[in-house]
Amino acid sequence: MAIQRLYTILSCVFLSLHQLASSAPVSSDESQRLADPDYGPVPGQDPLFSSYKGKDPTFPGNLKGTIFPTGNGPPGTDDIVWQNLLAAEWLIFEFYQQGVEAFKPEDFIAAGFPNHTYDAICEIRNNEAGHLRLFQERISDNSLKPGACQYRFPFYDALSYLAIATVLEISSMAFLTGLVQTAELPSSHAAMLAIAETETRHETWALLDIWKTNPFAGPIDTIYPYPTQILDPIRHYVVPDSCPSENPQFPNPSQNLPGLSPAIGTKSLQPGSTITLNFTEPTNQPHFQDDQDFFATFFHGPLNISVPINTKDWPEQSIQVQIPELEPKGVFIMVITDTVGAPTIDNVIVGPSFLLLQPAELGLALIV
Ligand SMILES: *[C@@H]1O[C@H](CO)[C@@H](O)[C@H](O)[C@H]1NC(C)=O
Ligand SMILES: *[C@@H]1O[C@H](CO)[C@@H](O)[C@H](O)[C@H]1NC(C)=O
Ligand SMILES: *[C@@H]1O[C@H](CO)[C@@H](O)[C@H](O)[C@H]1NC(C)=O
Repeated sequence: MAIQRLYTILSCVFLSLHQLASSAPVSSDESQRLADPDYGPVPGQDPLFSSYKGKDPTFPGNLKGTIFPTGNGPPGTDDIVWQNLLAAEWLIFEFYQQGVEAFKPEDFIAAGFPNHTYDAICEIRNNEAGHLRLFQERISDNSLKPGACQYRFPFYDALSYLAIATVLEISSMAFLTGLVQTAELPSSHAAMLAIAETETRHETWALLDIWKTNPFAGPIDTIYPYPTQILDPIRHYVVPDSCPSENPQFPNPSQNLPGLSPAIGTKSLQPGSTITLNFTEPTNQPHFQDDQDFFATFFHGPLNISVPINTKDWPEQSIQVQIPELEPKGVFIMVITDTVGAPTIDNVIVGPSFLLLQPAELGLALIV
C-alpha cells in the first residue's frame, strides 16, 4: 500500500524542505479594504468558499497584507485568541493553496488515490479561505489582523502531501480544544466548535477516502489545554523573517520549547511499546536538573498519564519510555513535564509530539 512507500523516501526528503514561492505580498492598501466587514464575499453565503475551482488563491487569501486597526479603543475581549487563530490559519490556508498549485488531479490518481482527491483539496483550500475571513471579522477594529508570512512545507509528492495534511488537520482539532478554553465570549466558543466540526469533516474524508481506515477515534478526541504549544512545532514551517513586521509573534506567547519525537527506527506507537525519545532541534536541547524528576506525559481523549523518565544519564544514554495503556485510536500528544499531569503551562518543558495511532502505519512513517 501507498504508506509503505513513505518509509523508503520520507527520511531523506523531509529534511530538504519543499520550496514553493508564495505569491508576492500585495500592497497593504488593498488588504486594508478588508477592515470593512461588508467588503467581499461572505462565508456561509457565497459558494466561493466551497466550489471555487481556480488555481489562484481565493479571497481573502489573495490579500496577504496586515490589516491595521481602524479604531483606537481598548482591544476586544478575545482579540489575542483570534489573532493566534488567524496567524495559524494563514499557515493552513497556504498549505492547501500550495497543494492546489503544485499538483494536478492526475498526480493523485497516479499515486493510487481516488479521482476526486484534487477536487477535495481544492474545496478544503476554499473552506480555509473562509476561515481567514471569519477570523479577520472576529478581531475587533481596535486590534491588528495579522497578515501572511511565507511558508515551506516538507512535501515532495502527492503521498507526502496528504500525510502532512492529515497531521495538520488532527493537530488543528487538538489545538482548538485548548484555544476554546482561553476564549471568554460564548459566541467565540460557538464559532470555534463549528470550525472544529468542519476540520473534523476534512479529517474524516481523509481517513475514509485517502487512507481507507476506520475514521472513529473513540468516544472523545484528544483535549490539549495549552494551544500555543501546539503551534510551537509548526512555527518551523514559517520562513524565518518572512512575516509582516507588524504581526504579533507567532505563536503569542511562544515558549520556544525544544522539539520532541520518537527516534527514527521506532517500530510501534501502540500502548505498551517502549520508545526512545529524540530531541529534534540540535540548537534547542532540553536542560534536565539533576535533583528533579521528569515525566513523559501523554494526553489522549480527556485523560493524561505521566510516566517517570530517567534523565540522569542523558545525553550519554538515550531516554526511553513505555507508552501507557490508552485506547490506541486517534492521536496521543506526548510532552516532557516536570510535574505529574502538567497542571500549568510552565510544567511542560519539551514538545509536544503528535503520535498518530490511526492509521498506525502513517504514524510511524511520519517519524523522521
Ligand atoms: C472516478 O472514479 C469512480 C469510482 O472509481 C468512477 O466511477 C468514475 O467514473 C471516475 N470518474 C472519472 C472522471 O474518472
Ligand atoms: C533526531 O531528530 C533529528 C532532526 O529531525 C534527526 O536529524 C536525527 O536523525 C534524529 N535522531 C534520531 C536518533 O532519531
Ligand atoms: C491531567 O489529569 C489530572 C487528573 O488526572 C488533572 O488534574 C490535570 O489537570 C490534567 N492536566 C491537564 C494539563 O489537563
